Amino acid sequence: MYGMVNKSVEDLITTQFGADKWELVKAKAGVTVESFISNESYPDAMTYGLIGAATEVLGLSVDEILFTFGEFWVLHTARLGYGELLSSAGRNLGEFLDYLPSFHTRVALIFPHLKPPSFECSDRQPDRVTMHYFSHRPGLSVFVRGLLSGVAKMYNTPAEITQTQFKDKGADHDEFLVRWEL
Ligand code: HEM
Repeated sequence: MYGMVNKSVEDLITTQFGADKWELVKAKAGVTVESFISNESYPDAMTYGLIGAATEVLGLSVDEILFTFGEFWVLHTARLGYGELLSSAGRNLGEFLDYLPSFHTRVALIFPHLKPPSFECSDRQPDRVTMHYFSHRPGLSVFVRGLLSGVAKMYNTPAEITQTQFKDKGADHDEFLVRWEL
């Protein structure tokens, strides 16, 4: 994945747990990179390794870290670095989710080697939508739940995000019901 993902993990851990903890995480993951370059590609295994090491160093579960990282990605990393891209994607949560299936096509203009996830919407109602998430990467559904929660917070919209289908339990893909207050 692009370096900005690892850099965001670094920002999350240093700001919320301290720089010393980040050094421990890197050491445990065997990562010797001094500073990640945002638009350079790194092996996915490095990102998974950092998350795994963080669970041990911080004493949190993988789900806790992935959910927190999802919210952090939207509310800090994306908002600070790509605020216009985010805000042009919708005037409210519903519009943003309608646009999400096309979103990474625009991200790929900035990061041409992006291997993005893909999203589809179905059963759209004024206050809800079912989001379908497809990826060749395993184990990231809780990250998606955190991302969706971050997007709802970005719009100051109370929302409930429930995973309704699980790829790791044999479903074709992961599915989430997102319901929000009108
Ligand atoms: C400005 C905002 C965003 C930027 C710049 C961005 C960029 C990226 C980048 C660089 C990756 C790593 C993939 C790679 O390097 O090949 C990624 C992965 C991912 N993005 Fe985004 N993204 C943004 C917003 C979002 C939002 C709002 C969602 C969903 C609500 C999302 C869902 C994901 C997921 C689930 C992955 C993990 C990869 C996978 O599942 O295969 N992203 N994104």
